Amino acid sequence: MALSTALNISHNDELFESGALPKNHFPRQERDPRRIYQAVRDELLLDGNSRQNLATFCQTWIEPEVHRLLDDCIDKNMIDKDEYPQTAEIENRCVHMLANLWNSPEVAGSVGCSTTGSSEAAMLGGMALKWRWREKRRAAGKSVDRPNLITGPVQICWHKFVRYWDIELREIPMEAGRLHMSPAEVIARCDENTIGVVPTLGVTFDGRYEPVKAVADALDKFQKKSKLDIPIHVDAASGGFLAPFCAPELEWDFRLPRVKSINTSGHKYGLAPLGCGWVVWRERKDLPEDLIFNVNYLGGNMPTFALNFSRPGGQIVAQYYNFVRLGREGYAKVHTACYETAQYLAKEIAALGPFEMLFNGNPAEGIPALCWTMKKGAKPGYTLYELADRLALRGWQIPAYSLPANQEKMVVQRIIVRLGVSRDLASHLLVHFKEAIAHLNKHPSERQQPETKAFHH
Ligand SMILES: Cc1ncc(COP(=O)(O)O)c(C=O)c1O
Repeated sequence: MALSTALNISHNDELFESGALPKNHFPRQERDPRRIYQAVRDELLLDGNSRQNLATFCQTWIEPEVHRLLDDCIDKNMIDKDEYPQTAEIENRCVHMLANLWNSPEVAGSVGCSTTGSSEAAMLGGMALKWRWREKRRAAGKSVDRPNLITGPVQICWHKFVRYWDIELREIPMEAGRLHMSPAEVIARCDENTIGVVPTLGVTFDGRYEPVKAVADALDKFQKKSKLDIPIHVDAASGGFLAPFCAPELEWDFRLPRVKSINTSGHKYGLAPLGCGWVVWRERKDLPEDLIFNVNYLGGNMPTFALNFSRPGGQIVAQYYNFVRLGREGYAKVHTACYETAQYLAKEIAALGPFEMLFNGNPAEGIPALCWTMKKGAKPGYTLYELADRLALRGWQIPAYSLPANQEKMVVQRIIVRLGVSRDLASHLLVHFKEAIAHLNKHPSERQQPETKAFHH
């Protein structure tokens, strides 16, 4: 047998010598780190430019100090609270600071934790709702077979939650003229098996806030008649770090006694690097004891509640850095600039084509985003999908997508403005936008029916 066969040296290994990286086989030899670093880095050039990705809510501009902190923390496993007690302490401080930001009545005793993002945080918030409902039902000797959850049009993490935890989702469908939950639609779906209601502060599809206070008031009235006390969990993935700074008078948080828990993404408008989310409960009693695992690494009891175990600690440290470095004033400054840029883009884009702005980045009503559709009856000779494709030629990711049930026929396009999407960058985008529309006007599409694509970010 040839030595190369015995050692399982494949043709790809030889190719690798002349420059190609292995794709499927596990390489036999070790390589020069500098050469491989360069080759891997080169491959990454083919990824999109994240700063031009106006589809994502996540942070794509990170301060140099945060880069340094991440490097300092690269060895820190946040679950190992014995080895890294200061990282654990910093996580705890962040939870209390968020409880304070969200007007918890019990800041010092508030409970919560970091997560990898809002999806994990939503799972934890949803599990607490299910557990609390089940405890009450069991105590009353009632069936626990058919829990349901009421939401407006939600991000996919809630679809995952209900499937993984065997819960019926009562997702309020959109209707013409109503793209969000309304108090009446919520109440019409409530019964004794409802584990909770989840309004979204910054609906994924158009960026608007759902009416948390109006829903809480309606649930108060409903309780008087039905004796059913239905809690609210707010999915504040984006809005949790926006409303406190830019719409402080909006009541959506723990000021409303019915709001028992809130999730948010640190890596969105919390300005932390990717991999950081939070969930906080109103009061200790809102988090069922048997969901908490106590570890005694520190000599005392360290409660943990998470789906993951090992996880990088750097994101939490960077989040704390942001809280202290920016404070309320700094966050307000950063986010106000984003709102102004969103409103500027909304005004300019509305003037460019046959577009109807569905949301224009008003801070009292939603996140720094804009969302539009084609005006009724407009026949511009191109679709929003084609416009998205033309903009992609210039590197811009500005997705066009169809809305969920019952507005599947409505196609919208959306821009998310976040730190790093400066007014200058927005002006360059407008130049490319005009170019794209001029091209599409000159070369109208032959497509008769717009195709529809769903979108989940
Ligand atoms: C309203 C809402 N909830 C949850 C999520 C999921 O968040 P993450 O990506 O942090 O898991 C998103 C993401 O865009 C969102 O917009």
